[in-house]
Amino acid sequence: MASLLGLGIVVGGIAAAVALALPWLPKPASNEANRIQFLFWFVVVICIAIFALVGAVMAYSIIHFRADPDDDSDGPSIHGHTGLEIWWTLIPTILVTSIGIVSAIVLSRDDALGKNYLRVNVTAQQFAWSFSYPDSKGLTSGTLRLPRGRSVELILHSKDVIHSFWVSEFSQKQDTVPGLTTKVHITPSRLGTFPVICTELCGLGHSVMRTVAIVMTPAAFNKWVAGQTKAITSPNSGVAGAAVFKNNQCGACHTLTAAGTAAKVGPDLDKLPAYAQQAGKPLPDFARQSIVDPNAYIQPGFPKNVMPQTFGTSLSKQQLDALVQYLISSSKRG
Ligand code: CUA
Repeated sequence: MASLLGLGIVVGGIAAAVALALPWLPKPASNEANRIQFLFWFVVVICIAIFALVGAVMAYSIIHFRADPDDDSDGPSIHGHTGLEIWWTLIPTILVTSIGIVSAIVLSRDDALGKNYLRVNVTAQQFAWSFSYPDSKGLTSGTLRLPRGRSVELILHSKDVIHSFWVSEFSQKQDTVPGLTTKVHITPSRLGTFPVICTELCGLGHSVMRTVAIVMTPAAFNKWVAGQTKAITSPNSGVAGAAVFKNNQCGACHTLTAAGTAAKVGPDLDKLPAYAQQAGKPLPDFARQSIVDPNAYIQPGFPKNVMPQTFGTSLSKQQLDALVQYLISSSKRG
């Protein structure tokens, strides 16, 4: 019995070391992630206990009941053991039921929206994420900004194919499906910047369909909302256009000196007047068309279908006007 117990401790110790020494899960950044990770460890502890029991009995049997090399006889025929059968039915029943109960509690608490929750529309399209805040009209952003400690309902849509929203620190994944509305509930609990990753193979740009979720203090978040709202509704189209350009991460792909961006994925927007001339269109019409219907004219040397096709429709008319104005005045200056 003592050696069986010793083997159990050794096997369980090895399994526990593997479970604890490796960073299996990211550090949680939401209340929901904390509960999900609690459930994970609850199940892991049960698994380690069972693994230790089975491993110890197996190792003990191999050592103590090993047949001699020339022993061809059958073992004794044993038929039934009511006591043992009751235990090996009862214990798994209790364990599986308890996992079910704890899971149900975690699920229902994770789904419960808090009072005064924040709604955020998440739009996925090949190959970009965009976020809008229906409680602050016209506010859109290429990064997901959230206040810490407030319940948030993400309302997900796709404009083309199936994508999947995932922030590993939030421990939840949700598909975005064309024609359907899906939801995730998150209560950010830790300040920081966390990657937002698309986890559904959605086309050529799948691997670059990323942005970040930024969890801010409530005060910083409110300040950001107020500042953005003021900027995008500014009567000065330079200010409003610059905010729209920045919020929608145009600079992730395009160079525009006035905005301080130097990316080379898409055409250099400093050269917009020259491109308009090549396309044979007046500059304002060309700039607008390139946003609303980017495939209408493709600048030689750049691939088709990379600029989000429906980007223009996610902007209000006022935002689109401001952006066009901003591009025209910036490119002329640049
Ligand atoms: Cu969108 Cu992968």
